[in-house]
Amino acid sequence: MKRTKTSKNWMHEHVDDFYVQEAQKQGYRSRAAFKLIQANEKFKFIKHDSRAVDLGAAPGSWSEVLSRLIGKSGRIVALDILEMQNIKNVEFIQGDFREQLVLQKIEKVLENDKLDLVISDMAPNISGIKVKDQLGIIYLNELALDFSLKWLKPNGHFLVKSFVGADFEKFLGEVKRQFKIVTTFKPKASRDRSSEIFIYGSEFLSN
Ligand SMILES: C[S@@+](CC[C@H](N)C(=O)[O-])C[C@H]1O[C@@H](n2cnc3c(N)ncnc32)[C@H](O)[C@@H]1O
Repeated sequence: MKRTKTSKNWMHEHVDDFYVQEAQKQGYRSRAAFKLIQANEKFKFIKHDSRAVDLGAAPGSWSEVLSRLIGKSGRIVALDILEMQNIKNVEFIQGDFREQLVLQKIEKVLENDKLDLVISDMAPNISGIKVKDQLGIIYLNELALDFSLKWLKPNGHFLVKSFVGADFEKFLGEVKRQFKIVTTFKPKASRDRSSEIFIYGSEFLSN
């Protein structure tokens, strides 16, 4: 493939990036690890005995963070449409979270035991068609929220990546109805030019 100026710029930016270097030093699969680490430094929601589900987990750096902080005392279930190499203390399910059968599979693995934490970094492949991409992420956000409503313990926590754009405010409003405290957050590790934003919901108001 011909290397365009844009792809060269991307490569330089990537190699020079502080978080790429830090991920290599600290043994994480990707720089995304620091988004979760920074969210947890701010909100302190990952406990040594948490029961957690990580949606859109591949290549696995969020799961690695969970594995280091939770270890054997809790439980970590990760899901992605792509394959993911094994991570200690993490049970992995491969499948498309939009499919009912995949949802049933993860629910079966959970064996009726409720969760302290649902985190979702799921994002669809970007098609370049802005409206389509935005609706695609909001749909995944909605599915992650529905899953949380069913599986979180009272006072459980929800962290989800979204993008500012159509239907974002509506989705944020839905999260606000379900959690006592809701904060939007852009970690330092999130690139300025990315419109990604994280929504953190604390203290699930279960009915
Ligand atoms: C930004 S990456 C996640 C990075 C991950 N948090 C990490 O730290 O390594 C987004 C992931 O969402 C996954 N994904 C997108 N749509 C999905 C779907 N419908 N079901 C399951 N996973 C999906 C992608 O395959 C991709 O691995």
